[in-house]
Amino acid sequence: MSRNVGIEITTSRKTLAQVLVCVGCCCGRTDKGHPEVPVDWLKQEWRKRTLPKKVQLTISGCLGPCDVTNVVLVMMGDHPVWLGGLDRHEQYKALADWASDCASAGRVVPLPASLARFRMDRFHERHHFASDFESAACCGDAEVA
Ligand code: FES
Repeated sequence: MSRNVGIEITTSRKTLAQVLVCVGCCCGRTDKGHPEVPVDWLKQEWRKRTLPKKVQLTISGCLGPCDVTNVVLVMMGDHPVWLGGLDRHEQYKALADWASDCASAGRVVPLPASLARFRMDRFHERHHFASDFESAACCGDAEVA
């Protein structure tokens, strides 16, 4: 039995959002003919704008949909928005500006319209789950204390 049964898992890191920028086996690999991902600029910009504790920037390994290339996952709270095919610096600047706007507002604000055309479906099939997890019927009341 897990020691965590009945314990709510929480984090003390309360960011508004998270931007995961892929630089895996394909994204940003100019040697493979893909557009550059301005990783150093993004890191510098996030620091300059004091964003890390408000909107986390994560430079990630492969996020999966390599064929799209230059993939970004924006976690707007617990709501994922997948972007793909970014090929210009101005698109990454729009992400940094959006993060700044979130930080200034103290809440997640809508992504800029200029990025809407890069939105993609991560998975071919849409799943329509009633909830994210199965029913906890397997756990007796005694374990859930
Ligand atoms: S390398 Fe970016 S999605 Fe695979």
